[in-house]
Amino acid sequence: MSHERDPLTNPKIESGDGAPGDGTLGDPPSDRATSQMHGDGHYGDVRSLLFGDLWDYAPAPETADHVQFQSRYGHFIGGEFVEGENFFPIINPATEEVLAEVATADAAVVDRAVTSARSAYDKYWSKLSAGERGKFIYHIGRAIQEKAREFAILETMNNGKPIKESRDVDIPLAAAHFLYYAGWADKLEYAFPGAATRPLGVAGQIIPWNFPLMMAAWKIAPALAAGNTVVLKPAETTPLTAMKLAEIIREVDLPPGVVNIVNGAGATGAAIVEHGGIDKIAFTGSTEVGKIIQRSLARTRKSLTLELGGKGANIIFEDAPLDQAIEGVINGIYFNQGHVCCAGSRLLVQESVVDTVVAKLKQRMASLRVGDPLDKNTDIGAINSFDQLTRIKELVAAGVDEGAVLYESECDLPDRGFFFRPSFFTNVSQSHRIAREEIFGPVLSILTFRTPSEAIERANNSRYGLSAGIWTDKGSKLFKIAGALRAGVIWGNTFNKFDPGSPFGGYKESGFGREGGLHGLRSYLEVR
Ligand code: NAI
Ligand code: MG
Repeated sequence: MSHERDPLTNPKIESGDGAPGDGTLGDPPSDRATSQMHGDGHYGDVRSLLFGDLWDYAPAPETADHVQFQSRYGHFIGGEFVEGENFFPIINPATEEVLAEVATADAAVVDRAVTSARSAYDKYWSKLSAGERGKFIYHIGRAIQEKAREFAILETMNNGKPIKESRDVDIPLAAAHFLYYAGWADKLEYAFPGAATRPLGVAGQIIPWNFPLMMAAWKIAPALAAGNTVVLKPAETTPLTAMKLAEIIREVDLPPGVVNIVNGAGATGAAIVEHGGIDKIAFTGSTEVGKIIQRSLARTRKSLTLELGGKGANIIFEDAPLDQAIEGVINGIYFNQGHVCCAGSRLLVQESVVDTVVAKLKQRMASLRVGDPLDKNTDIGAINSFDQLTRIKELVAAGVDEGAVLYESECDLPDRGFFFRPSFFTNVSQSHRIAREEIFGPVLSILTFRTPSEAIERANNSRYGLSAGIWTDKGSKLFKIAGALRAGVIWGNTFNKFDPGSPFGGYKESGFGREGGLHGLRSYLEVR
């Protein structure tokens, strides 16, 4: 197995070196289970699990033939698909093929969408009984479930994420969000006992490309349940499942204009933010854009929730069940190619077990299958866009320049498409950019600590505060550490678990406001 090294990275690189236990054929299981010598060979003996990487998998691609989508999309306004202008291509990041082209909404189109949302609010949605509102939301959730397979394949084609993730995570969770919030629609008085609630009106919602349909669900479902109407803008690289959602919204006969979807990039998002007819902005995306939005809304009466970046600490204590912790590390950083705001992108390992953890991690990484996202066996798919791949490469190069040691898993990458090897850095210090900035790719930074208080201090030493993970055998330690961490979502002996009933959101530069659960409902209501 050989591969071209990226010119952006310099020679300070270790790689999967074919040492016993890296998963190459002919490595008898008994040998794999004992000796682990990497690079300077200081990792010593590591007992290890077998990951089924002793044989090759036959290709198991999903067929995409039956997935229907248009080659051209304008916008979805007032219950109709409407024409647009200034079309740009939508790329399949795994093949670089053009899937479709979509239009760019300018301020005039955004104004049409907002007007339609306002009139739907006045005419239909605010007049409908809460029970009826709930039924519509429920129907949307059920319709997503009925078309789950088609949604999953389209999501994978447009986003690049492995089909097993869109099939088992994105689409089921998107449906679950609608079903969950459908249940709240007629129970608002129980949700906020003793208080009177009122919808805010028209919500402008801007979402990113990492979980396209799921982010649309996280935004639309609570907004509708609370009685608002919406104008949503999908990310410019991943609008296709949102357009498919628009089809469903037509099919369930949602009153026209209750949900409007406009396509376009940052300028379209800015036109939504600045529109005077909007009562609330909900944004998920980069901290940089979040700050622009906050600034722009500072002098207005619009309410705002921001779900921004993160640099989550995944903390492994020496008493943790290490094999399980390794699974949590893999899930924490390589799930969805690391395009996850709550990724466990900073691994903090207690010094006494760091060598073992690093050795086990290398071994587990050797079994990760990188490639065709439509293949059911693929673990890691394509980076969503050329731009994102460039950002990842730049930050990785900065890490190498600053003196961290890069380890890339050895695997063959497809010839076409935007791919990046699952990687991690050791020798990372807090001042390195890779320890502070969101890489948003399959790249982990490993730091160490000696005592629990040092772990807390290091974990909290970030401008972000979205997520964290704690791995320890001691429940009391877990709760004590969790209480001291400044992160909105904390997982104990697991990672990246989501549920519509569980609030999600951050502290500090990770934003404010919560999505999911009652908290998520509250952000779309005036509670008096
Ligand atoms: P971005 O923040 O620019 O894009 C997210 C959404 O905001 C998209 O729909 C985009 O069209 C829209 N947008 C862009 N500029 C806007 C503006 N001025 N006003 C209103 N809406 C605007 O994120 P981008 O450029 O896709 O990714 C850059 C970096 O941001 C990534 O490398 C990653 O680190 C971070 N990011 C974090 C996400 C998260 O969930 N925390 C999601 C996406 C990106
Ligand atoms: Mg941007």
